[in-house]
Amino acid sequence: MAQQASSDNREGIRGRVAIVTGAASGIGRSIAQCLASEGARVVVLDRNLRGAERTVSEIERDGGESVAQFCDVTRSTMIDAAVSAALARWGRIDILVNDAGIAGPMLRVDAIAEHQWDHVLDVNLKGTFLFTQRVLPAMSERGFGRIVTIASAHGLVGAPLSAAYVASKHAVIGFTKTVALEWGTRGITANTVCPGYVDTPMGVQPDRIPDHLERVLARSAIKRIAEPSEIASLVLFLVSPAAGYITGASIAIDGGITAG
Ligand SMILES: NC(=O)c1ccc[n+]([C@@H]2O[C@H](COP(=O)([O-])OP(=O)(O)OC[C@H]3O[C@@H](n4cnc5c(N)ncnc54)[C@H](O)[C@@H]3O)[C@@H](O)[C@H]2O)c1
Repeated sequence: MAQQASSDNREGIRGRVAIVTGAASGIGRSIAQCLASEGARVVVLDRNLRGAERTVSEIERDGGESVAQFCDVTRSTMIDAAVSAALARWGRIDILVNDAGIAGPMLRVDAIAEHQWDHVLDVNLKGTFLFTQRVLPAMSERGFGRIVTIASAHGLVGAPLSAAYVASKHAVIGFTKTVALEWGTRGITANTVCPGYVDTPMGVQPDRIPDHLERVLARSAIKRIAEPSEIASLVLFLVSPAAGYITGASIAIDGGITAG
């Protein structure tokens, strides 16, 4: 086992099996494409099956290997099915990227309904917990695993009108630190990346308060929104052999929004 773990750690991305949730759109789609272009076999999961299939078509068009599956990350039975399907198809799971997420309503704390709070926490936090829990046995058995969760700059600082989202993203950071501490001796690393604003359907929501984005960017160091591929590049590094000593970290990739 120890020998397998050390040779596994020297392997690059080629041949790895990666699961990316929320990969029908935005950051998740870019991560799936980036991993596939480096030779990983990628399971593209989303509750938007048509979008997931589009991601797979693009990967296959570029010569990559990928499969799409419908999965709602709040449903443990669907997660079990997705993990079983990946293991039946490729016999291993090396990489998990917990990307699926929702912003929830922009409301002050006193206006958030219980069901709205629950829904945001279910997708962003419980989905991350369930998926991580379900891949750990397969990773542990091979003595290798890379888990990256897309948190947010709002996992590092608060933001008015986003209490459920902010709470969920702070929580996945704490959860990930604990996974890192529990599973580090089995060759598994767990990290969060914390984007600021990214050019995706979520990042440029039309219903946001007027001028919100402009005011945030004005306070940042790099006064522009990020491209999804910039977040994917960080994820690619975190799952590479070069990042084997990075675990339990939460890495801001926000153009300096949280630096000041
Ligand atoms: N875009 C930004 O500015 C930004 C900033 C910081 C963090 N993030 C985080 O990055 C991640 C990706 O966001 P994005 O900007 O690419 O958004 P997006 O809306 O483009 O993509 C999110 C994807 O998650 C999927 N999804 C939502 N709920 C799901 C569920 N229950 N089960 C399975 N799939 C589900 C959606 O169908 C969609 O394809 C999210 O976790 C988000 O919180 C985004």
